[in-house]
Amino acid sequence: MYDVPPQGGRRAVVTGASGGLGLEIARRLAGAGAEVVLAVRSLERGERAANQIREAHPGARLEVRALDLADLASVRAFVEGLVGEGRPLHLLANNAGVMRPPRRTETVDGLELQFATNVAGHYALVARLAALLTRSGDARVGWMTSSAAHVGRLDFDDLQATRHYRPFRAYAQSKLADLVLALWLAERVGASGADLASVAAHPGFVRTGLFSAGASVGRDRPRRSLLESRWLPHQEVDWGAEPLLVALTSPEAANGAYYGPAGPAGLVGPATLVRPPRRATREGVGPRLVEALARLTGVEIDL
Ligand SMILES: NC(=O)c1ccc[n+]([C@@H]2O[C@H](COP(=O)([O-])OP(=O)(O)OC[C@H]3O[C@@H](n4cnc5c(N)ncnc54)[C@H](OP(=O)(O)O)[C@@H]3O)[C@@H](O)[C@H]2O)c1
Repeated sequence: MYDVPPQGGRRAVVTGASGGLGLEIARRLAGAGAEVVLAVRSLERGERAANQIREAHPGARLEVRALDLADLASVRAFVEGLVGEGRPLHLLANNAGVMRPPRRTETVDGLELQFATNVAGHYALVARLAALLTRSGDARVGWMTSSAAHVGRLDFDDLQATRHYRPFRAYAQSKLADLVLALWLAERVGASGADLASVAAHPGFVRTGLFSAGASVGRDRPRRSLLESRWLPHQEVDWGAEPLLVALTSPEAANGAYYGPAGPAGLVGPATLVRPPRRATREGVGPRLVEALARLTGVEIDL
């Protein structure tokens, strides 16, 4: 099991820290001494998660703050709160996500829900936090993607899936977009010399609430998903969180690094460096995505 190096004096934001992988990432960072902001859309679930962390680490320095990534006004308010305090921020774990709502769902900003939560919300968060991160010293942004990114396709003619909505296709597109953004940002900071690293990870297959949460969007009662069955090799959150924890905290993780499980089909096993798929590195794909996101969110990444 990966031991997070000492993080005393460092402050981290973890999105989607109310459960699943985000809670485990927050717990491990807090256990290593980082001050952790649990960025959650339900303060009640966030407080419950914070209490779970305190049970394991009574001295943990935690804060629970409201952030709904599917609402760009909420992203702006969250960042204004952090930036207004003028305190440094060293780690940003872009972890929150939603997967495969059965029907196309639109956010208050008119974006498709998976694209909004997994991509546009995190893009806006990074754009608005970039200045704070770069002046904090030795900062890292970690993007949680998925092996679904390796089969995803960016449909620049219809990023919001208004013409054909297919739940998995929209999810795979969103996770490919996260990886493209991670690599684009890495290249950008490499060129500008900003004191920031951008890294990416995928967790393999972990039986979290992700599958039923997505399947239940727009339904009166919670739905189960076939992906929750035990027929696929899977691992627990402690192992699933490792690729992003390694990317965010290992001294060996370089700007632009991409980690995932080393085991069969990348579904399970210890974290190792993974080669990004060709579709994530294709010439021009990063700038094109960033341009579209700047238009959709009204914010630019200025580095
Ligand atoms: N589990 C896997 O096998 C797997 C595989 C590949 C990639 N991933 C990725 O790993 C990440 C974490 O997923 P998980 O497996 O830990 O799933 P999870 O247990 O369902 O956790 C998802 C988290 O995202 C939060 N979230 C959802 N919509 C949000 C919004 N609009 N604003 C803020 N937070 C929001 C959820 O908050 P609530 O508590 O409010 O719902 C929850 O904390 C996701 O990006 C997912 O795509 C997971």
